[in-house]
Amino acid sequence: MLHKVNIMIKPNPFTPQSGWEPRVFGGREEALSLFRSNLKESLSARPNHLVVLGEWGIGKTSLLKQFRRMSQEAGRPACFCSISRFTKNDKPLDAMYLIAEEMLMGFSRPNIDPEEFLSLFSKKKSLLQAQSQFAKFLLKLWQVLDAELAVVFLDDLQNIMPISNTIDILRAVLSKDEIVQNTKFLFVLSSTPGGWATFLDKHDPIGRFFRKRLTVENLNMGDAIDMVGKTLYDTGVEFDSAIKEKIFEYTNGHPYEVQLLSSHLYDGQIEGKVLAGAWEGALVNTLKELGRDYFNSLLFRASDREKDLLKILAEENQPLSLKDFRGLMIVGRYAKKFPIANIKNFLYRLEEKGIIGRDQKANFDIPDRMFREFILRKETGK
Ligand SMILES: Nc1ncnc2c1ncn2[C@@H]1O[C@H](COP(=O)(O)OP(=O)(O)OP(=O)(O)O)[C@@H](O)[C@H]1O
Ligand SMILES: [Mg+2]
Repeated sequence: MLHKVNIMIKPNPFTPQSGWEPRVFGGREEALSLFRSNLKESLSARPNHLVVLGEWGIGKTSLLKQFRRMSQEAGRPACFCSISRFTKNDKPLDAMYLIAEEMLMGFSRPNIDPEEFLSLFSKKKSLLQAQSQFAKFLLKLWQVLDAELAVVFLDDLQNIMPISNTIDILRAVLSKDEIVQNTKFLFVLSSTPGGWATFLDKHDPIGRFFRKRLTVENLNMGDAIDMVGKTLYDTGVEFDSAIKEKIFEYTNGHPYEVQLLSSHLYDGQIEGKVLAGAWEGALVNTLKELGRDYFNSLLFRASDREKDLLKILAEENQPLSLKDFRGLMIVGRYAKKFPIANIKNFLYRLEEKGIIGRDQKANFDIPDRMFREFILRKETGK
């Protein structure tokens, strides 16, 4: 008699959470090797501080944590500080104090007494104070670290922008002679491009000081599919190869979207198989969550008129020029709905708000396929 084989299905291995390190870290070869050489070069020359830039959910935190692992593997103590949200009412000293506190926790050693270190910071919250106190702090910390190089990761620097002179303080401290000569801290900062943009003006000393920049982008097709396959290893669940390709087709390799969609697909397995039938349900759940996380707030920024144009762009499913838009509205199927004036302004505003983009030919486009699906389904009430 034949017995049905019991398949043991493991818990869901995907990590669709901001800041959760993936079970399998995909791609990023170039970034990792760039950091590896950075670690080496920083030993013999001035540390080459690095800025990691990327939009929401693209994998900044995970990359920084991977860098931290590499640093420690190479024998360089490292600490990871997540910058929480500050407001205009906070003072730069508050931010420097938080960074110092996190550094002490991150580098935690028996010979570090946090109280003793934090007492270096007085309550006088002037800029100059913040600068000299943080410099003293670094010098003192360096003495107990007993290292050739120590790495400090500051994640989500955009949260500090309301008190943006904090970063100027950091720059000023790191370029002080006594710090350059007596310590070797390598700083790695991460931020959204929008957050960092203020410093990119060529006259801004911050942009010129933190010159080495690395942009985090979507995973390429090979890396994304490979990562999904490896994440499934030994779970008892398999994705059909057409499903894996479709994951890439819809997410274009955006790590958070890949994790979320894969996680829902995993939950849709039947006897350890994920086949075409699991797709629609997983996609609907994914879009619902992406809406809650991000897409709703993105759409909320658009006026009703702008939303109409967005819907047309989604329905046409290809990049459109201003001329295409005008054409569609004069004779096309959207003709009656629309007064043609101001189309240009609406489109420009959508672009300014980061809701749509432009392709290489400068045509208007919805770069994120999942966002396009979201708009289509939302508008038709599906
Ligand atoms: N290289 C990678 N391989 C596989 N999954 C990844 C990779 N990088 C990130 N992820 C996954 O993508 C999601 C987002 O990653 P992460 O939180 O690092 O991004 P982020 O840019 O820091 O996002 P946020 O804007 O929320 O700060 C997480 O679910 C994470 O597990
Ligand atoms: Mg993050």
